[in-house]
Amino acid sequence: MISNYKIAIITTSDTRGIEDDLSGKYLEETLSEAGNDIVYRSVINDDLEGIKKELITATDTFKADLILTCGGTGLSKRDNTPQATLAIIDKEVPGISEALRFMSLQKTKRGMLSRGVSGIRNDTLIINMPGSPKACREYLEYLEDVLGHALGVLKGTDKDCGKE
Ligand code: MTE
Repeated sequence: MISNYKIAIITTSDTRGIEDDLSGKYLEETLSEAGNDIVYRSVINDDLEGIKKELITATDTFKADLILTCGGTGLSKRDNTPQATLAIIDKEVPGISEALRFMSLQKTKRGMLSRGVSGIRNDTLIINMPGSPKACREYLEYLEDVLGHALGVLKGTDKDCGKE
């Protein structure tokens, strides 16, 4: 698991608030226990413009190294997180979300229903996760041993791509 990174967790939901945001709480607890600094955590509704603003705040103001979003990746009319992410990133990192969907399909066919994307804005890596606590746990467990290298390469502190 990564440690010593600045992490933001943004949950998008029309029904949940910070008190019953179990996914955000799980990510916050797990990542802070590992020694990361949770510099920003919020629960906001599914409005496209609001999500874009939150992502920009976490990136540009709080200088998060990593933003994990929970929810809003599905097929409902109010699911806007991927479009908000695509609107504010400089570069997409498609392989992360491709791998996450591949992992998810081994667990449930419904894994194909997440439209989540990943990308970079300035020095921040942003990864969309589905909203359920189960999905967030599966995503984080799958990502944990590659996140350190991803963030190290993004920051320029890890130049050794040949060694796993
Ligand atoms: N991926 C994993 N790994 N585990 C899950 O339980 N749930 C799926 C999918 N991806 C799931 C998953 C379901 S049921 C949906 S509807 C979509 O993610 C979108 O979820 P969201 O709308 O909460 O973002």
